Amino acid sequence: MNSKTNGNHKSNAALPGAKRNAHIAGWGKYVPEKVMSNDEIAKLVDTSDEWIQQRTGIRERRIADPKETTSTMAIRAARDALALAGLNPGDVELVIVATATPDYIFPATACLVQNALGASRAGAFDLSIGCSGFVYALGVGASMITSGAVNNALVIGSETLSRLLNWADRGTCILFGDGAGAFVLRASDTPGGVLSYKLGSDGSGGDLLIIPAGGSKHPISQEVIDQGLQFLRMDGQAVFKFATRVMGKAAKEACELAHLSLDEIDLFIPHQANLRIINTASKFLKLPDAKVMVNVQKYGNTSAASVPIAFCEAVDAGRVKPGDNLLLVSFGAGLSWAAAAVQFEPVMPSKPHTAKDVLADWFHYNVASARSVLSHGLHRLDSVTGRKVWGAKDPK
Ligand code: COA
Repeated sequence: MNSKTNGNHKSNAALPGAKRNAHIAGWGKYVPEKVMSNDEIAKLVDTSDEWIQQRTGIRERRIADPKETTSTMAIRAARDALALAGLNPGDVELVIVATATPDYIFPATACLVQNALGASRAGAFDLSIGCSGFVYALGVGASMITSGAVNNALVIGSETLSRLLNWADRGTCILFGDGAGAFVLRASDTPGGVLSYKLGSDGSGGDLLIIPAGGSKHPISQEVIDQGLQFLRMDGQAVFKFATRVMGKAAKEACELAHLSLDEIDLFIPHQANLRIINTASKFLKLPDAKVMVNVQKYGNTSAASVPIAFCEAVDAGRVKPGDNLLLVSFGAGLSWAAAAVQFEPVMPSKPHTAKDVLADWFHYNVASARSVLSHGLHRLDSVTGRKVWGAKDPK
């Protein structure tokens, strides 16, 4: 029993079905290889490394290779998370991909990920709420576990914002980067896991951070492209003020729901958008630097991927230990925000992932890929023959 809760487990204050806890059992991240420095951006727009670092804390970001997409990065992060959790992809019950930059309007990116992983028993859906997406998805996945609907969930944040930026707009192109992060959540009777979450929305500020085109309001047309509506637009100052207002407040609310005081928080893992926003929130929460995870300097704002990427790096740096209370907070388009309190009690597999397991994973993913090709062929055959040769019988 974790001494921090004095043996008196106070978790799941906000979650139904309090006996089943949703634990982080695995985690993984993927960032593209290509690093883009501030100096490189300064060759495209009128800015400087000094200005960007002073106003945002960002030094560089990762940019996806042309062959990479939101789903391919999500798959890389998910594979690592599954391997760490010792969870067979075929046993995954739910895949949620939080993203503002899906591969397509539909199908959902989560379905592409489910297929590539060979997670044939899993339901899958995307969650679209901008940069708040991962913490929202964490709450949804945890609630589905504690309610008994599923026994595990793969929760992913993945973004390819570089494709939707106007690289001639210095007010936005300096801020964002690409990447993915994933958690495996698992049901367990062990106390801890996701203790609480608080979700928020204020749609009156929807136009402050928006990609206007590509949906039903402004379908892609030459006129829309001529106006540049396919690119991300932002009122930076308004979003800055909103972020500094909601971040600390949401974080406090999540703590209260989990019956934790801020003193009991071991690590604050905020959305990595701007160092000044992070510092303002940390000051409001009276959290010292040693309790605040910051990696915005390396990746910029990776939107829904930023919190899980920061979590992975905090673990790698030895800043997260079993029993620690974590506070995860994000904000973004919508306008929206989300915060979650997590007691990190990793429900780990009894044996480490061996070379044999790596080989078994490789085999599984190749079989999944072959099965996907075969299944795709059968769907095609359905349409060619007009007969159902795959799946359930046609309804009479
Ligand atoms: N390089 C150099 N100068 C720049 C610049 C850039 N990249 N971007 C803006 N400027 C200029 C402006 O034109 C303005 O010049 P002026 O005073 O001559 O008019 C000046 O810098 C100040 O602009 P301002 O917009 O007040 O800067 P700022 O301190 O608010 O910083 C942001 C701009 C975008 C970095 C900041 O507002 C921000 O981070 N906002 C939050 C954005 C965010 O987090 N979005 C994602 C949410 S998930």
